[in-house]
Amino acid sequence: MNLNRFCFVLIATVFTSFLVYGALYIYLFSAGSLNFDIIKRMTGIQMQGSFPFSLLSNYTNAKVLLDKITPVTVNIVNCRKLFDGDPLEMKKTYKLLENYNPKVINDKEYVNMTKNCSSFRNTRGYIRSPLNSLEEMFPLAFSIVMYKDVYQAERLLRSIYRPQNIYCIHVDRKAARDVKEAMKCIASCFENVFIASQLHSVRWGTISVLDAELSCMTELLPKHKSWKYFINLTGQEFPLRTNYELVRILTVYNGANDIWGTTDRRWHARWKDAGKPPYNIRPLKGSVHIVANRDFVNFLITNRTAQEFYKWTKKTRVPDETFFPTLNYNPQFGVRGQYNGSKPSHKVRSFSRLKIWTQRTGAGCHGKIVRGICILGIGDLPLLRRRDEFFVNKFHWNYQSFTLDCMEELYFNRTRNEYEGNGNINTSVYEKAEIVKYSVKKEMTKTTV
Ligand SMILES: *[C@@H]1O[C@H](CO)[C@@H](O)[C@H](O)[C@H]1NC(C)=O
Ligand SMILES: *[C@@H]1O[C@H](CO)[C@@H](O)[C@H](O)[C@H]1NC(C)=O
Ligand SMILES: *[C@@H]1O[C@H](CO)[C@@H](O)[C@H](O)[C@H]1NC(C)=O
Ligand SMILES: *[C@@H]1O[C@H](CO)[C@@H](O)[C@H](O)[C@H]1NC(C)=O
Ligand SMILES: *[C@@H]1O[C@H](CO)[C@@H](O)[C@H](O)[C@H]1NC(C)=O
Ligand SMILES: *[C@@H]1O[C@H](CO)[C@@H](O)[C@H](O)[C@H]1NC(C)=O
Ligand SMILES: *[C@@H]1O[C@H](CO)[C@@H](O)[C@H](O)[C@H]1NC(C)=O
Ligand SMILES: *[C@@H]1O[C@H](CO)[C@@H](O)[C@H](O)[C@H]1NC(C)=O
Repeated sequence: MNLNRFCFVLIATVFTSFLVYGALYIYLFSAGSLNFDIIKRMTGIQMQGSFPFSLLSNYTNAKVLLDKITPVTVNIVNCRKLFDGDPLEMKKTYKLLENYNPKVINDKEYVNMTKNCSSFRNTRGYIRSPLNSLEEMFPLAFSIVMYKDVYQAERLLRSIYRPQNIYCIHVDRKAARDVKEAMKCIASCFENVFIASQLHSVRWGTISVLDAELSCMTELLPKHKSWKYFINLTGQEFPLRTNYELVRILTVYNGANDIWGTTDRRWHARWKDAGKPPYNIRPLKGSVHIVANRDFVNFLITNRTAQEFYKWTKKTRVPDETFFPTLNYNPQFGVRGQYNGSKPSHKVRSFSRLKIWTQRTGAGCHGKIVRGICILGIGDLPLLRRRDEFFVNKFHWNYQSFTLDCMEELYFNRTRNEYEGNGNINTSVYEKAEIVKYSVKKEMTKTTV
């Protein structure tokens, strides 16, 4: 072979392999299936701050897992019929509930089960795939505040768990040792789940509630540099929207925060002894359930003005119900996502939470009422299927236990359907929402990935 020809073949071969490997690399990367550790090893580039996404092999598990969990959840009653409000199925279920002891995984069992993490993740059916690229490109941050019922909190975590998101769990300092231990073990099985490093003893109406939340927020920011929204939850809540639906809706939100608040005078007594708020801030009383964009959370944690205001709220009663809504409804700060419409805050629809306040059963609540809040029962399932909110408050796993079981079945069914390409979410109700139309619109601050 002559030398020229040899050189040509050599160059062609090298060139082709570059193309092939390059294409493969781009393919894997854009499919989101390449672990950043591998990228680092291959290229030496440190993909700082981003969570390592799962490996390709994990992706293929998604279908298996979704198929596995969904039918397993409930087979004694027919959830679909309960969601349809079928009177016969309801009657049958109430009868069944009279002496039904739901199975539970107790705290000690969790400690045991999590000794082998891969087996724990598998047997509990955790989804370890972003499921689709939209979800992968839109990571969410969650905090879960809890003090008991590990089993229920773990079922909540299992539902909302995706490898691209990040989860901070605040276990009350007063919680039983077994609860803390079990939650620690569960968290240790996931790279993107952690227990807040500062645990507060949370007492309603005091600054401790706010501090618990802020301690999670503070850690969530540096631990994961690309989450786009923060959502706070308690262990007794459950999603009405799948992760995919949340991503679709929050994309429509385009930075808007969803924090309900009111300027109603009857709440003014809460801050009448606190003196004048700094910076001419107009205080509001609001909801403790917040959905906020990353820049807003960053503002709360790092901005001097926000910190001065935090000091002032310390002097008020029930500070957590003032801090977030007030900063959301004082648009003079011009922070991304703040509400700047003219309609009064209490008339603005919020979607963060469905929570039924009522004094008697029958009036919008088919479960039982504890301190004015509906503990949802099977009779509430038809309502829960058609509501537009993100999450619902609240369940007691051992009260009409099929309620939560069926919620799980519905949630995983929807997730599976979306994964198979049969998701259908109509976002028009969110597009029309006041909070979305009238919010401070800004480009999201670029974070280093
Ligand atoms: C799933 O991905 C993780 C890293 O994200 C890896 O350590 C683990 O081995 C994978 N599991 C399987 C079953 O491939
Ligand atoms: C969930 O999906 C299964 C299998 O397709 C179906 O039998 C069941 O009725 C569904 N449950 C609900 C609540 O839609
Ligand atoms: C711990 O788990 C193993 C199986 O993984 C089981 O054989 C054993 O009985 C469990 N121990 C307790 C105390 O639950
Ligand atoms: C964990 O459990 C899996 C089965 O789910 C088993 O294959 C593996 O060997 C176990 N690992 C350890 C360290 O026991
Ligand atoms: C969300 O954060 C607020 C503000 O700190 C807190 O009062 C509230 O308890 C949190 N809500 C939930 C559901 O954890
Ligand atoms: C804090 O927020 C205020 C109001 O948006 C702004 O004027 C100020 O520059 C911010 N301070 C810092 C340190 O970012
Ligand atoms: C979405 O819902 C709205 C009403 O909320 C309806 O007017 C519209 O036709 C629906 N769009 C689709 C594509 O179904
Ligand atoms: C609200 O903010 C947007 C974008 O920052 C701005 O275009 C709009 O004029 C503001 N509306 C009011 C009432 O201030």
